[in-house]
Amino acid sequence: MKRYEQFAAVIAEKIRSGLLPPGQKVPSVRMASQTYSVSPSTVFQGYYLLEDRGLIQARPRSGYYVRETTARSMDEPNPVQRASDGTEVGVSELIFSVLSSLKDPNTVPFGSAFPSPDLYPLARLGRSMAKTVRYLDSSRLSDMTTGHPELRRQIALRYMNSGVRLPMDELVITNGAMEALNLCLQCVTQPGDLVAIEAPAFYACLQVLERLKLKAVEIPVHPRDGVNQMALADALTRLPIKAFWFMSNLQNPLGASMKDHAKATLYGLLEQHQVPLIEDDVYAELYYGTKPPHPVKSLDRSGLVMHCGSFSKSLAPGYRVGWVAGGRYTQQIDRLKLMTTLSPSLPAQAAIADYLQYGGYDRHLHKLRDTLETQQNAMLAAAARYFPCDTRVNQPLGGYFLWFEFPERVDSLKLFELALAQGISITPGPIFSASHQHRHCIRLNCGHRWDKRSEDAMALLGRIIASF
Ligand SMILES: Cc1ncc(COP(=O)(O)O)c(C=O)c1O
Repeated sequence: MKRYEQFAAVIAEKIRSGLLPPGQKVPSVRMASQTYSVSPSTVFQGYYLLEDRGLIQARPRSGYYVRETTARSMDEPNPVQRASDGTEVGVSELIFSVLSSLKDPNTVPFGSAFPSPDLYPLARLGRSMAKTVRYLDSSRLSDMTTGHPELRRQIALRYMNSGVRLPMDELVITNGAMEALNLCLQCVTQPGDLVAIEAPAFYACLQVLERLKLKAVEIPVHPRDGVNQMALADALTRLPIKAFWFMSNLQNPLGASMKDHAKATLYGLLEQHQVPLIEDDVYAELYYGTKPPHPVKSLDRSGLVMHCGSFSKSLAPGYRVGWVAGGRYTQQIDRLKLMTTLSPSLPAQAAIADYLQYGGYDRHLHKLRDTLETQQNAMLAAAARYFPCDTRVNQPLGGYFLWFEFPERVDSLKLFELALAQGISITPGPIFSASHQHRHCIRLNCGHRWDKRSEDAMALLGRIIASF
């Protein structure tokens, strides 16, 4: 990081944490230069960068101020209150019908699950692919079962650099995180078992439960702090829960991230009740701050946490390479994988391993995070301009989703149809719920380049929402 970027990161952190609230003047150039021991031109460059990202704005002859429309100018969504005790899951039909309508490439992709492909170094990855396939010989094919050794080494190194010590043997490479999550759940449950999941939850989690005939115990998620620990502790004393499936960082769809002390409490509950945690951490690399958040896996002394990750969101969408650090369940997961899909594509694994070694992954991530934060601010600012004033929205510390809550009269399934008819996709709230909640909520994707089309789409959405 250059010096002005470091300085900008410090100020951005103060804005995100609320130490510099919306409307507050940021330190003058002279003051900042003295306080942070940097030159005035470094301060200027840092402030230009923050202005570009939409975090601050200049006022004529007065200096720079934190943008009113960034943090907390709209209230955050209400915490989810309802827990459910063993709901049979049957939401696939709704999910499939919503997802199939999102495929039209001509719509404004606010409903998409993926950020823009332009944000990924696909050409550079292609070069790694071309380079590595030449050396794939049949003797290497025996590596297929456990996963490409260099890739596993690179992933273990990344864990180590972020403070998680993990033996390479614990890593099983899978077809995206989705396969990892499926295998983990299959390893620790039987049909009819109860699984604690989040409310709202990633819709594919609901589909997996439905497929495996498992029952959902829905634990409310706070829009900023994540899983409600009291509700979880209460459910554990009353119900024979066999596994947890949670996201401790940048939860989909709410964007919530648990604080370190909450992760420690959660881990204490796992150990006390000896219930395994399937930790879905696919957005781990998309944090905006300067420090990566730790997963619950970093606390795991007894192998109860199965930590699932993926390159789909951070590097190589479509390559379908993910993994699980399976703790005490590693061997079972590996065997189950052998019985089902055997292995992800070896060329894809080799290409990613080469890119991690030589392609400049950290540089790419740095740029990706900056771009996503800029686009999040642009969408928040547009929402503040065009959506009704009783709209609530979260402000996640990473990723590319925003969760909007409207008054109860706004029916998000109807809104979905009306918006789609106007060429705008959105994701309606009920597909994130085993018990069909969140009917007045939507998730929007801000992972695509912000332009006039996005701005016009937000204005049109605002008019449709106001018509309810
Ligand atoms: C929360 C969450 N978990 C898992 C996945 C699946 O990841 P992958 O594409 O690596 O299978 C996604 C993708 O949308 C996701 O949002």
